Amino acid sequence: PLQPVILSGGSGTRLWPLSREAYPKQFLALTSEHTMLQETVRRLDGLDEEHPRQAVGQIDPIVVCNEAHRFLVAEQFRVMGRRPAEIILEPKGRNTAPALTLAALSAIRGGSDPVLLVMPADHTIRNEVGFRAAVADACVIARDGAVVTFGIVPSKPETGYGYIRQGRAYEVEGLSGSAYLLNGFVEKPDVETAADYLESGQYLWNSGIFVLRASLWMALIERFRPDIAQAVANAFEAATHDGDFLRLDADHFGACPGDSIDYAVMEPLARDTGGAGPPAVVVPLDVGWSDVGAWSALWEVREQDAAGNVLDGDAFVHDARNNLLIAHHRMIAAVGVEDLIVVETPDAVLVVSKEHAQDVKAVTQFLQHEQ
Ligand code: GDD
Ligand code: MG
Repeated sequence: PLQPVILSGGSGTRLWPLSREAYPKQFLALTSEHTMLQETVRRLDGLDEEHPRQAVGQIDPIVVCNEAHRFLVAEQFRVMGRRPAEIILEPKGRNTAPALTLAALSAIRGGSDPVLLVMPADHTIRNEVGFRAAVADACVIARDGAVVTFGIVPSKPETGYGYIRQGRAYEVEGLSGSAYLLNGFVEKPDVETAADYLESGQYLWNSGIFVLRASLWMALIERFRPDIAQAVANAFEAATHDGDFLRLDADHFGACPGDSIDYAVMEPLARDTGGAGPPAVVVPLDVGWSDVGAWSALWEVREQDAAGNVLDGDAFVHDARNNLLIAHHRMIAAVGVEDLIVVETPDAVLVVSKEHAQDVKAVTQFLQHEQ
């Protein structure tokens, strides 16, 4: 069986002022009429590891999120007319490695050992059929005992991503596409290193989606970060059930060190190639993936008019090109401007050049300081 895990604990600060700490981007309908979390859940429908192109029913994910967002998450499922397998509530985020460890413990609780499909809650994928075919291949590889990542052909020296060095072909019976041994993994390199990687043509971006057996994740976290494994096991033991929610105790989970899947496990595992560890594999993913990390990325994935403008709501442009205007409460008029992003909300307006879209987090840092 396949068990999807949706990591929904991030706060999306670069998408301020629409994305707020109390209402982060995965709960917003940024790319379609559905929220990004709903898109993530729906993307799985029809996924069948054995027959990737045949529609099967729905697969209910485990969601790991912040306790403060429990009703937002539950409501998102309710309006879709469905229920998650479980919603695990973190009193405070400890990054993705502890979150995945919680989900793995939940998945193996009944004595089974499913293949986990670990997905961020806030990505878009244009070609869902292609995505499901890649996931089906990843399941074949994961059942063979490997850790599977998905690689995106890089287009710029982005420093916010992990970089995967592609090795020789990985062969296992039953694949419909290609797969390669992972020959290196570097999380968030500096810009010079990222530029070198881009130029070498040997690297792919890590999409942040992983496929592996629950027991394999437990073995990896116990090996590379026994402190995290132990702290999460203690917290899981002390957790309480409350309907679909699994609540963690703040003291127990608070004692867990924070780290990401990428730093805690993928980097050391990649350094270990040739050792006794399990193989790490990369499946190329060419399906219109975007992590919608900043407003400029949203402009890229949304449909643009002939002048390159994306106008959402009550927006008017004249002699303006390549702008993103979001106006749901008041009208925005833009004249003679280029590569500009304007996002209007009842209590805040953002104006930023597309080039500086990554720096919007300075605003949320400033606001946190003010409080
Ligand atoms: N439950 C939970 N708890 N979820 C979390 C937490 C947490 O403490 N922290 C982050 N998440 C969720 C986020 O909501 C997001 O959906 C996902 O986990 C990934 O976290 P990010 O914080 O967005 O990671 P990143 O973007 O810096 O880097 C990752 O994704 C890149 C691609 O978008 C890495 O995997 C990179 O290697 C990768 O390139
Ligand atoms: Mg991210």
